Parts: sequence; structure tokens; C-alpha cells
Amino acid sequence: MKNIYLIGFMGAGKSTIARELVKMKDAKRIEMDQMIVDQQGMEISDIFEKYGETYFRDLETELLRSFLGKENMVVSCGGGSVLRDENAALMKENGCIVLLKATPETIYERVKNSTDRPILNGNMNVEFIRELMEKRRERYETVADITICVDGKEKQEVCREVLAALGE
Ligand code: S3P
Repeated sequence: MKNIYLIGFMGAGKSTIARELVKMKDAKRIEMDQMIVDQQGMEISDIFEKYGETYFRDLETELLRSFLGKENMVVSCGGGSVLRDENAALMKENGCIVLLKATPETIYERVKNSTDRPILNGNMNVEFIRELMEKRRERYETVADITICVDGKEKQEVCREVLAALGE
């Protein structure tokens, strides 16, 4: 199977769908955020606080580079990883980019109790999510090979749509 890079806003369901997709297909699940946490021995919010966002983005680039040449992976990408041209190019070079899209309301419901997303800490409301999503929208849509709307759908349904769109 071609590598799948799941992209989209925080809370769009990238990790959940990756977990489900690897059950349906015999593939390896990769969690970018978790790999960075494990490699650095620090939580994402601590990395942001101590070293800043650019440092975190550099770690994302390094990690994506390390995937080149690997196969049969479903990669749950950090929500902001695709904002860098180099990162999007690395994903494209090595697989198919699948955008999971949800409304700000759906996102808010899913992330409202989480404290491990530094970009949303202190900004946990629908309006902030809507504005940031709007800023990122064009970028997400431009780099995506496939776009799947997830609002109101069961995870199995989303996976079936992803696989059908990939011709699997
Ligand atoms: C971020 C998304 C997060 C994580 C970091 C920054 C972003 O990942 O990488 O907090 O800029 O959108 P998830 O999309 O998995 O929450």
C-alpha cells in the first residue's frame, strides 16, 4: 500500500483514523507528535515553551525526512506540519496526502478538554478555531490529494471513504 499522510486541523481525527486504517490494511501506524515526544523526552507543550515553535517545526521536518524510502505506513501528521513547503514536498514524494476536514464546532467538541496543544491553550473557543482554520484552509486544500469530510461520520465510514478514494 502507498503511504498515507493524514493531515488536517487539530482534532480532525487523524490519530483515530490512522489507528482504524492500519486495522483494515496491514500497515504500520506512525504518530508524528508521539514520536517527537518520545525522541525528545518532553511533552509538545514543554517543547514549545522551552525551545519555541520553530524548533518544534524543525523536528517535524527531520522526522518526515526520516520516513523517505519507507513503505506501508499510515502517518498521523501534526496539524501544523504541512504548513512548511518542505514538509508537504516530503509527504508528496513519499505517499498520498489525505486531508480530514471538520467544522470548527466539531473540532471544538473534540479538543475542548485537552491541554496538550499549545496553540489552543488559552484560546479554547470556536471563534479562535474558526479563524486559525480559515488561515490554514487554503494550504491544507492545496496540498491534499484527497479530502474527506468527517463531520457526523463513524470512523469506519471515514476509513472506507479514504480507501475508496485511494482505489484500495
Ligand atoms: C499543531 C498540532 C498538534 C501538534 C502541535 C501543533 C498545530 O498536532 O503537532 O500542538 O500547529 O496544528 P495534532 O494535530 O495531532 O493535535
